[in-house]
Amino acid sequence: MTPQDIARAVDVIRAGGVVGMPTETVYGLACDATNGQAVARVFEVKARPSFDPLIAHVADRAMAGSITQGEWPVAAQRLVEAFWPGPLTLVLPRAAAGAGLPGVAELATSGLDTVAVRCPSGGVARRLIEGAGVPLAAPSANRFGSISPTTAEAVRAELGDAVDVVLDGGPCEHGLESTVVGFEEGGAPVVLRLGAVTLEQLGEVLGDAPTVRSGGSRPAAPGMLDRHYAPRTPMRLVETWEAAVEASRTFLGGPEGRVGLLAPGLLDDEGGRAADLAAGFAVSRRLRVGDDLRASAAVLFAAMRDLDGLGLVRIVVVAAPERGLGRAINDRLRRASAR
Ligand code: TXA
Ligand code: MG
Repeated sequence: MTPQDIARAVDVIRAGGVVGMPTETVYGLACDATNGQAVARVFEVKARPSFDPLIAHVADRAMAGSITQGEWPVAAQRLVEAFWPGPLTLVLPRAAAGAGLPGVAELATSGLDTVAVRCPSGGVARRLIEGAGVPLAAPSANRFGSISPTTAEAVRAELGDAVDVVLDGGPCEHGLESTVVGFEEGGAPVVLRLGAVTLEQLGEVLGDAPTVRSGGSRPAAPGMLDRHYAPRTPMRLVETWEAAVEASRTFLGGPEGRVGLLAPGLLDDEGGRAADLAAGFAVSRRLRVGDDLRASAAVLFAAMRDLDGLGLVRIVVVAAPERGLGRAINDRLRRASAR
């Protein structure tokens, strides 16, 4: 990608267009957050319900301060010091437009009196925000309810000509969306969406792990519906080895047709058991490399997309260990397999 590519994308943003934007988490569908018509187009392209607000992406704390109201809670300041720029989104009181500053468009925040702000670390996103000189509203660049794209090709496959430009920044580093944190009246932090910053990491900075209030069909973050991140192929989530083996027996050789296995948490070296299990399926994707789950997270959505394109009748998914990134991975897998 050349500086000219970025400059062209900046022009598109300034003219009220929409740009496929790589970030360190997933690709976003970016527009000028202060331009209501541009924001409306993002909702239209995504087929996203207007009750589901967008994240405003900022270049730095000063830009964040210009769209939020008043002093930030101490916990917010600590979190920003530790994780910005990076995959952490904060929900804060929203500033009214005024003093010559165009505020974030009403539609971008779905009329709420809060605004979600995030300062991405991805270089292309940063250059785009700095070039545009305004916060960029950017939901993940998928159609509503579908899998977030982690490559430029996936953005094109999802949205095609509906996007003016797609900047190709290569595969995303984290592969999972940002962690969204809000604050109660007294300033206590609450996790509204699990994501690339883990609960353990938040706990280290805050002293205590914050409470998690994500999920349900009337969720705290309006976008956290039960069914989301979903491939078209039906997915069956199992929590244990035994259940995975059982599922492979049930489907193997049955009249059902081809069944795939997705196992983001399985270690390769579990005494050959993982390989045995995989042999029971038409295709299998074990994503884990070594002991940590970062590799699994980075390729999870791409693997779901791949499997979804293979004409399988079903995908059996084995949950990851419920710790660290495993929590966010399992959160996405539960929503992807919810009916
Ligand atoms: O990593 C990410 O956050 C990616 C990249 C592109 O930055 N963006 C992303 O955006 O995941 P989106 O729109 O797919 O998810 C935003 C989430 C939704 O669950 C939405 O409901 C929540 O943030 N959200 C946004 N504004 C909010 C607000 N004012 N209060 C509560 N939740 C909010
Ligand atoms: Mg999304």
